Amino acid sequence: MFSTVSQTAILLLAFTISHCTAQSFHGAEDPRIRTALTLEHPVNGVSTTPGGRLFILYARIDGSKGPQVAEYDRTTNTSTPYPNAEWNSYTATSDPATHLIRTNSQRIGPDGHLWLVDTGSPAFGAPVILPNGPKLVVINLATNKVSHIYSLGNATLSTSLIDDVRFNPASNMAYVTDAGAPAIILLNLATGDTRRVLVEDPSTSAYMPISAEGKLVHTSAGAFERIYADQHEVSPDGKWYYYQPSNGGLSRIQTKYLDQAFHNATLAQELGQYRQPYAHTPSTGGTAIDAHGNIYVSDTDSQRIVRVWPNGTMTLLVQDPRLLWVDAMWVDTQQKLWMPAAQLNRGTPFNNGTSYVVPPLHVFTIELGIGPSPVDHA
Ligand SMILES: *[C@@H]1O[C@H](CO)[C@@H](O)[C@H](O)[C@H]1NC(C)=O
Ligand SMILES: *[C@@H]1O[C@H](CO)[C@@H](O)[C@H](O)[C@H]1NC(C)=O
Ligand SMILES: *[C@@H]1O[C@H](CO)[C@@H](O)[C@H](O)[C@H]1NC(C)=O
Ligand SMILES: *[C@@H]1O[C@H](CO)[C@@H](O)[C@H](O)[C@H]1NC(C)=O
Ligand SMILES: *[C@@H]1O[C@H](CO)[C@@H](O)[C@H](O)[C@H]1NC(C)=O
Repeated sequence: MFSTVSQTAILLLAFTISHCTAQSFHGAEDPRIRTALTLEHPVNGVSTTPGGRLFILYARIDGSKGPQVAEYDRTTNTSTPYPNAEWNSYTATSDPATHLIRTNSQRIGPDGHLWLVDTGSPAFGAPVILPNGPKLVVINLATNKVSHIYSLGNATLSTSLIDDVRFNPASNMAYVTDAGAPAIILLNLATGDTRRVLVEDPSTSAYMPISAEGKLVHTSAGAFERIYADQHEVSPDGKWYYYQPSNGGLSRIQTKYLDQAFHNATLAQELGQYRQPYAHTPSTGGTAIDAHGNIYVSDTDSQRIVRVWPNGTMTLLVQDPRLLWVDAMWVDTQQKLWMPAAQLNRGTPFNNGTSYVVPPLHVFTIELGIGPSPVDHA
């Protein structure tokens, strides 16, 4: 009896692995793809203003040192630490509340400000510095000054990886993914109060490790690398929140349940009842959403971008061998999709300290013909 069950389990596991680990792509380049930036070091996030300013986030997974957040000048191809060198100069003796410890993502919000998501952990997998390390840092782009800091210390565990932020302007809430300890963090932007929900729910957890270029990714200790709640989007009408772990499997839940759960502990415990499967996405580096509610998903295995239509159907947008671990994407007001090919799986956190990143790195664009969602960014 026992052996029958375990054989079935092994067969199921074998099927799951072969089914979920997709192949690496070595086909032709797609001429629709344009090179926007050529860089020495990996960048895992870009954002642009309607006026043409450009902000980038250096991932620092290739052994390089230096600022993480920078403003990029496309006429000189130079980057300047942003908002300044001091914020980007964290060392073990710095005040964790007023320095960027390790920024995981950045984006311009619907308010037109630049939002930086600081994990509060000095190195990938290192314990979070509590309570003041994990935070959202908001920068006013008119003054280039930090205008607000939201501490996430009360909603963060030492094993957390505070990952990314999205907004629901109608309820003045922000949603933050925790990729290190499975959960979504609800943040009331008026009060700064927080609540962890969907804690270790199947929809925020990773039933499989992340996979890239056809291979499962490992930690430096040799374990399988699981990256929990990571990519997420809010629908342009503000009604739906879409979220997934990095290994894929996109779920959705109505934002009204998240927002009510912020004030209602009973509902917060029962939130898992209100989520739905949305799309069987692949292992993913990053996503973006457009004004029509299409979600773009970068497949870390197969060097492609998948489009998830608002009805949940997936189609291929583009596949190209250069799209090596495209991380957080961005839809600009010129109706282009920005794709930073960051090669993260080749970096030090996943190869026991050695970097196999091959420079130069590129940020690519492709024409979408659709602009950004107004609840996503200006
Ligand atoms: C800046 O980089 C772009 C994209 O790689 C390139 O086309 C352009 O020639 C560069 N400009 C300068 C001044 O180096
Ligand atoms: C964290 O919780 C403590 C105790 O309830 C409270 O005093 C403090 O204001 C909270 N901090 C934040 C940033 O919400
Ligand atoms: C990683 O590198 C360290 C130090 O070089 C070594 O002791 C350890 O065994 C390596 N881990 C794996 C999983 O290979
Ligand atoms: C809190 O949520 C529970 C479960 O959905 C519901 O039964 C209850 O009426 C809610 N309480 C309030 C005050 O809305
Ligand atoms: C979903 O939307 C796409 C794009 O509009 C369309 O091609 C497809 O037929 C739709 N699928 C269903 C099942 O409605």
